[in-house]
Amino acid sequence: MAQTAVAKEIIVHELVPVKGINDDMRHMADIGEEFNRTMEPILRMYNAAMNMTETRMDIIKDEFKYRNMRVPIHHIDTRLKSLKSILGKLQKKHLDLTITAACNNLFDIAGVRVVCPYVKDVYLIRDRIMDQDDIQVMEIKDYIQNPKPNGYRSLHMIIRVPVYFMNRKQLVPVEVQIRTESMDLWASLEHDIKYKSLYTDEDCDIDFSEELLEASRLIYQAEAKMEKMNNYLEG
Ligand code: GTP
Ligand code: MG
Repeated sequence: MAQTAVAKEIIVHELVPVKGINDDMRHMADIGEEFNRTMEPILRMYNAAMNMTETRMDIIKDEFKYRNMRVPIHHIDTRLKSLKSILGKLQKKHLDLTITAACNNLFDIAGVRVVCPYVKDVYLIRDRIMDQDDIQVMEIKDYIQNPKPNGYRSLHMIIRVPVYFMNRKQLVPVEVQIRTESMDLWASLEHDIKYKSLYTDEDCDIDFSEELLEASRLIYQAEAKMEKMNNYLEG
């Protein structure tokens, strides 16, 4: 599968008008308010891109339903990164706390998660996205072929979708995560367990990494068995 241009090559002035961007927002005390005010219209643009991507996924779903075929999408989740987490991520990555830095470096401000019944559906959805010729695929990370060391599995794409405003068109990045229901179950429980273990007693040295990896393997095996049955029936 062709891995296209690296997302970092996006130039911010292609994405947002440079006018109105204040690069001097360096002091944390002032940053929150000013950042929020300037970021507001930009967030609306990301929101539009997110909705558009969701609609395209819905269209795929409808088409399968209409043709009385098994639908390759179980459900779709969307989320727009909050201003607080945008600032948090910029800090974590030691980047300037500016709109420019956010638009040039954070490609998951708009996020769409497509949850599918089987692994073959994940790749079907990937291909349907790649076939849409007004969508630019910036990056694909296949954590199904190459799971993360902790057992995380999912297919991540960074795409740029066109959003039309009154007098201009913007290509806006959206992170699309495509995964099966089993992968989704593991990821949400792992997130819960990891989050909870952060708030447990410091003296209690808990490390569930082996168990989580084992759970991921078991889930993977069960999923593969079920998919085999489905392949037998669907041919
Ligand atoms: P950032 O985009 O900076 O977060 O880094 P990255 O591009 O290396 O991230 P990656 O594409 O690996 O993952 C981005 C998103 O995938 C996260 O925000 C999560 O939603 C999800 N994700 C990645 N790894 C894990 C994991 O180990 N557990 C869970 N539960 N979710 C994960
Ligand atoms: Mg990412």
